[in-house]
Amino acid sequence: MLLKILITTGAMVGISGLLALLLLIAEHFLANYGECTLSINNEKQVHVQGGTSLLAALNSQKIFLPSACGGRGTCAYCKCKILAGAGPLLPTEEPLLTPDEIRDSFRLSCQVKVKQDMQIAIPEELFNIREFKTEVSLIKDLTYDIKLLRLNLIEPEEITFKAGQYIQLITKPYNGVKESVSRAYSIASPSYEKKYIDLMIRLVPEGICTTWVHQHLREKEIVNIVGPMGDFYLREGAGEIIMVAGASGMAPIISLLEEIAARKIERNVTYFFGAVAKRDLFFTEEIAALKKRLPNFQYIPTLSQSQPGDAWEGETGLITQPLERYIKNHDTSQSQVYMCGSPGMINACIAVLNKNSIQNERIYYDPFA
Ligand SMILES: Cc1cc2nc3c(=O)[nH]c(=O)nc-3n(C[C@H](O)[C@H](O)[C@H](O)COP(=O)(O)OP(=O)(O)OC[C@H]3O[C@@H](n4cnc5c(N)ncnc54)[C@H](O)[C@@H]3O)c2cc1C
Ligand code: FES
Repeated sequence: MLLKILITTGAMVGISGLLALLLLIAEHFLANYGECTLSINNEKQVHVQGGTSLLAALNSQKIFLPSACGGRGTCAYCKCKILAGAGPLLPTEEPLLTPDEIRDSFRLSCQVKVKQDMQIAIPEELFNIREFKTEVSLIKDLTYDIKLLRLNLIEPEEITFKAGQYIQLITKPYNGVKESVSRAYSIASPSYEKKYIDLMIRLVPEGICTTWVHQHLREKEIVNIVGPMGDFYLREGAGEIIMVAGASGMAPIISLLEEIAARKIERNVTYFFGAVAKRDLFFTEEIAALKKRLPNFQYIPTLSQSQPGDAWEGETGLITQPLERYIKNHDTSQSQVYMCGSPGMINACIAVLNKNSIQNERIYYDPFA
């Protein structure tokens, strides 16, 4: 009996899979959506070839929406209001949109395919996002798994961004990877440096972009980036600034610290940096130099698994521990918190902050996922 059920279920799954595959093949070879018109903000019309995602169609017209996952439908940064022509909501979009967003006609532009004329709304500030041609002027090891990548701008020659924002790095095909992908990287250099940007890129095992950067990219190569993007930047305020980062989450924090120093902002700044062992600490000299320009700055590196040879006398444990101790012993009623790094670290810190009366309105973060 069990065998019969298993065979029937298997057959049904096989038939549905085959049908889905046939549909995909038919759509690929037979569907020709021709030229479609995208009407943007009731002001501008662009003509695109149907059949690609809305995100790709807009990119082909040099209109760039934020995107962190490279169109894989996981980041939800590419949300856009589609007022007509989007078709029904897709199962890949639903989990990433709130009921309010769905009611307000927001869709994921990387998932919605252009099959007919569309009417869309894009916030004006997004028209500042551009494509830049750059040259790799420096690749340097910061730790055993983090590299600093400096990109000199060629065309346009300058970039204007807010400290804390990120760009999308566009890879080139290599080895078995046949297509270009794009991934988000926070800018580590100061916003007053307009002719180059620095990125800090941590190797993810088997990761497409990070393997390319760490093992294939060379100085003097030309690479394209798109940006600037993101709403992780310094907010006005009078209270203390608390910063938390781990690994390459250091990148936007350094840019923010440079911004604070350049603008001579005199607010107290306390920076908690979480690392596993001493070999994961980096930018120590640069931070010491920043300390001389920031009179009210305190740096608290913390090791979660210091090694016997580390001779470490600083803070130990998970980054949440010194953070919580600090909050409990200070008046943080006006503090703002800026965090960057893994989603796990950020979520754990948010729980500690909320528990200690720092609510989400004063917490800003970019999870690197
Ligand atoms: C706003 C934003 C800013 C970012 N800034 C930086 C930055 O400054 N420096 C930096 O190093 N990264 C940064 N990231 C992460 C970066 O965009 C990529 O996700 C990461 O570099 C992996 O890319 P990949 O192509 O090598 O891996 P992929 O080929 O995309 O992924 C390979 C596998 O690794 C998993 N994976 C993906 N990312 C991670 C990760 N970070 N840790 C562990 N596993 C992962 C994937 O789920 C997948 O299974 C940022 C992300 C966002 C959203
Ligand atoms: S680009 Fe990430 S969900 Fe669309």
